[in-house]
Amino acid sequence: MKEQLVAGMGALPGASLQKACRLLVIFCALHLLVTMVYYMAGRDLNIFQYFTENQQSQHDWKNASTTPAAELLACPETSPLLVGPLNVEFSKPVDLEETKKENPAVRDGGRHTPKDCRALQKVALIIPFRHRDEHLKYWLYYLHPILQRQQLDYGVYVINQDGEETFNRAKLLNVGFAEALKDYDYDCFVFSDVDLIPMDDRNIYKCYSQPRHLSVSMDKFGFRLPYNQYFGGVSALSKEQFQKINGFPNNYWGWGGEDDDIYNRITSRGMSLSRPDAIIGKCRMIHHNRDVKNEPNPQRFDRIAHTKETMNSDGLNSLSYEVVKTEKKPLYTIITVNIGLPKR
Ligand code: BGC
Repeated sequence: MKEQLVAGMGALPGASLQKACRLLVIFCALHLLVTMVYYMAGRDLNIFQYFTENQQSQHDWKNASTTPAAELLACPETSPLLVGPLNVEFSKPVDLEETKKENPAVRDGGRHTPKDCRALQKVALIIPFRHRDEHLKYWLYYLHPILQRQQLDYGVYVINQDGEETFNRAKLLNVGFAEALKDYDYDCFVFSDVDLIPMDDRNIYKCYSQPRHLSVSMDKFGFRLPYNQYFGGVSALSKEQFQKINGFPNNYWGWGGEDDDIYNRITSRGMSLSRPDAIIGKCRMIHHNRDVKNEPNPQRFDRIAHTKETMNSDGLNSLSYEVVKTEKKPLYTIITVNIGLPKR
């Protein structure tokens, strides 16, 4: 029987066999094509999203759903939009108009809300600021795409110290907390220096069950912590955690110590630090000279030694300032404040 069949096939004329083979190849190719089209459509073509320069590409924002937030399902615990390690460098200048075009879903004032799901946290990003416009451009260029991929409901607040008196980072952060809450019902506050950019979008700018230190692996310190209690750079506290420590100190004028005071506040209220690992926590600092009127504060060592005694009367409950101007720019809100002078 087998022999008969083989003999039978051998009997087919050569031209017909070629034609049959060609038809079979065409059929297979069509089948493959149709399968691929269905596969890609099913994946919403996400596969193509991430392969552009600097991973600045975004979700298909224009076609995103417009379902009211209350009806949306909660966003997943881990955003599917994350891409991991990022290429961060500061050689090309940033054009903010371009950055705005690249981030069409960011609303005036630097606000953003995910379209496809209900964000798990409402995060205010607070940046203490004075005369660092170039650094702010890089921050906005890198952070907006990252924060959107992290599926956060967020707003960016730049707290600009008015005048040329000695800088006071921690007091500006307290002002940011108070002012952001007047704008929206935020439940989480990320405090970031303007010159620090995360190198991995899995370093989520949100709050955890314990206060979070995010900038744990800075290039400036050889990608490791300078010391275990270090809490400088970028940190995140929930509204409750921030209120529990009476906010940050108002009386650290000049460079240094205020982050150590915040660390002391956190531990003296029975909390501990949460941190990403040294790979996910990598970040780059933009090189710069020391700012004028931000010289190292000689009183800092004495102040840090007395946090426990001072924290109940120095902080949110003693905060006083005057808003000079609030401007809602396309990618951020800038609040210029008069925070007074150091006590002589
Ligand atoms: C200062 C901190 C600073 C750290 C790292 C400490 O001596 O008190 O404010 O963040 O050094 O530079």
